[in-house]
Amino acid sequence: MTIHDKYVNKYYKKGDIVITKYILGIVILNLHFTLTKIKRIIQYYLNLNKYKNNYIIVVDKYGNEKKYKNCLHMKGFYVHFKGNNNVVKIFQPAKLKSLGINIHSDNNTVILEKSVDIYKSKINIFDGEHNTIKIGADTTINGLLIQTYEDNSVVTIGKNCMISCGVEMWCTDSHTITDLNNRVINIGMSIELEDHVWVGKDVKIGKNTRIPKDSIVGWGAVVTKKFDERNVVLAGNPAKIVKHNIMWARPRVRDFLKMSGN
Ligand SMILES: CC(C)(COP(=O)(O)OP(=O)(O)OC[C@H]1O[C@@H](n2cnc3c(N)ncnc32)[C@H](O)[C@@H]1OP(=O)(O)O)[C@@H](O)C(=O)NCCC(=O)NCCS
Repeated sequence: MTIHDKYVNKYYKKGDIVITKYILGIVILNLHFTLTKIKRIIQYYLNLNKYKNNYIIVVDKYGNEKKYKNCLHMKGFYVHFKGNNNVVKIFQPAKLKSLGINIHSDNNTVILEKSVDIYKSKINIFDGEHNTIKIGADTTINGLLIQTYEDNSVVTIGKNCMISCGVEMWCTDSHTITDLNNRVINIGMSIELEDHVWVGKDVKIGKNTRIPKDSIVGWGAVVTKKFDERNVVLAGNPAKIVKHNIMWARPRVRDFLKMSGN
């Protein structure tokens, strides 16, 4: 066997190993997804009798309500309850793709108003009762995590907001901070996005915050407090007003220039 033959043999053997590894990877990945699906279905049947009074209410465009009990699995969308007396209300039409709603406590409400378009997102109410999460009509979301752990937290996203990917809204710090008299000083009460707010990529929004109407949050920002002035750009960590008197629009810049005749 020549050196060339040896090299070719070795090369193809290596190639085979790479291909085998690749196929094995795909098989393991498929197995993982199948097992996750089976786990969800088992969970669904176990939860049916364990948790009471949970409803998913789908309201069609004529106002007719269709009620689903306990869990809902639709293509690319699921709701899981591990608690009692919870309601998820969805107004049609709604475009939901890879949205998971997990409610692991009692007496919580999630409302998705009409014409929302939500992709790759999670709403997690873990612990805590009487939490309300509302996403306003015509809002588009490309990758958002909403997380609450406390009682009476209210997270509202206004109408016609535009939320990019990698965005997180935590209406809680997860753990406790007290003053020296043992009084809790970090209760998560609310996150409020007023109407027509654009949240850029990888923004983190913490508890007790407000983003005013017609404003923008620049990518990577960390919002830590309530702002009152409308039509501003917030940016940085912690987020501060970096521009006043702005307005934003959904079309790309070149299309906007063409449309507006600038
Ligand atoms: C927020 C944003 C829209 C502002 O754009 P703009 O109005 O052209 O703002 P400018 O570039 O003039 O910046 C104004 C000031 O804010 C600062 N700034 C802008 N964006 C910032 C950011 N993300 N973080 C920190 N500072 C920022 C600038 O450095 C500048 O500071 P200076 O006045 O001290 O020089 C833009 O910076 C941004 O974040 N774009 C990304 C949006 C996004 O996530 N798109 C993904 C798809 S939705």
